[in-house]
Amino acid sequence: MKSDTLKILHISDLHFSSENSISNKTNLLSKRFIGALNLHLHRKKLFNENQKKIDAIIRFKKEHNIDLVINTGDYTALGLDSEFKSAIQSIKPLLSSPRDYVSVPGNHDIYVNTKKSHNLFEKYFKDILFSDMPKYVTDRTWPLVRLVEDNLAVVAINSAKANISPWNSSGVISKKQLDSLDAILKDKKVKDRFIMIITHYAPRLSNNTPDKKLHGLKNANEFLKVCDQVKNGAIMFGHIHKTYHLKREDKIPLYCAGSATMKDREGFWMYELTGKNLKARKFTYSSKGGVYVEAV
Ligand SMILES: [Fe+2]
Ligand SMILES: [Fe+2]
Repeated sequence: MKSDTLKILHISDLHFSSENSISNKTNLLSKRFIGALNLHLHRKKLFNENQKKIDAIIRFKKEHNIDLVINTGDYTALGLDSEFKSAIQSIKPLLSSPRDYVSVPGNHDIYVNTKKSHNLFEKYFKDILFSDMPKYVTDRTWPLVRLVEDNLAVVAINSAKANISPWNSSGVISKKQLDSLDAILKDKKVKDRFIMIITHYAPRLSNNTPDKKLHGLKNANEFLKVCDQVKNGAIMFGHIHKTYHLKREDKIPLYCAGSATMKDREGFWMYELTGKNLKARKFTYSSKGGVYVEAV
């Protein structure tokens, strides 16, 4: 920390694709076929300036003396090895200090329903998938906890799963993780800090309603019930390609990063945490200057 204020950059949904997303034979034999077609027809052009925008994010991190980067998933389009390679290569400078980068996978990173669904994310992000409180890891590498300085705890929960049908992009948080999360939030090492709970799926949309059944978090209510015991904290996520904040009366607030790189929707949050006081600043992309500017 360079001052009394911790600066945290929260990005999400970079959706890298690669040249062979549509040509790879195995894609044509699977759910990826429809995904690849959709990507080819609609999505790819929305993310075709990714590198330019990631370069602007890397400059932003430096200029604002960011202490920690949170990325809430969907690095890829079809969960392909080549897409992970492109993503990792592009964001390399953000990953240079593994302690200062915390992330979860999105549904696009665990795209096809096989026994190996989680393997590529775990392979490419192995350096950052560590927890300061390993006794709470109950489901693969989750939940993982990072204790930052003496005032912040970040708890990362995986809500992404592989779905068989191409029309289903819902997520769920395992019971094991929910039980662990509850125990973490009660742990004396954590409970007096500001707590950021990060995951891919939105527990609520910007109008405070649940997302659609085939697109949302199946057990959003159970998740919120566990999280609502937090007095000082926030839930941070992506998946919805819109940057928004939801205040919830006396309950834990929500912050959706949206997509940092999707054409005409680019956005992210920069959080400034002083003690347990959070100031959230929203940024959008100015294509004129090729820079991210604070939203008014
Ligand atoms: Fe996404
Ligand atoms: Fe997603």
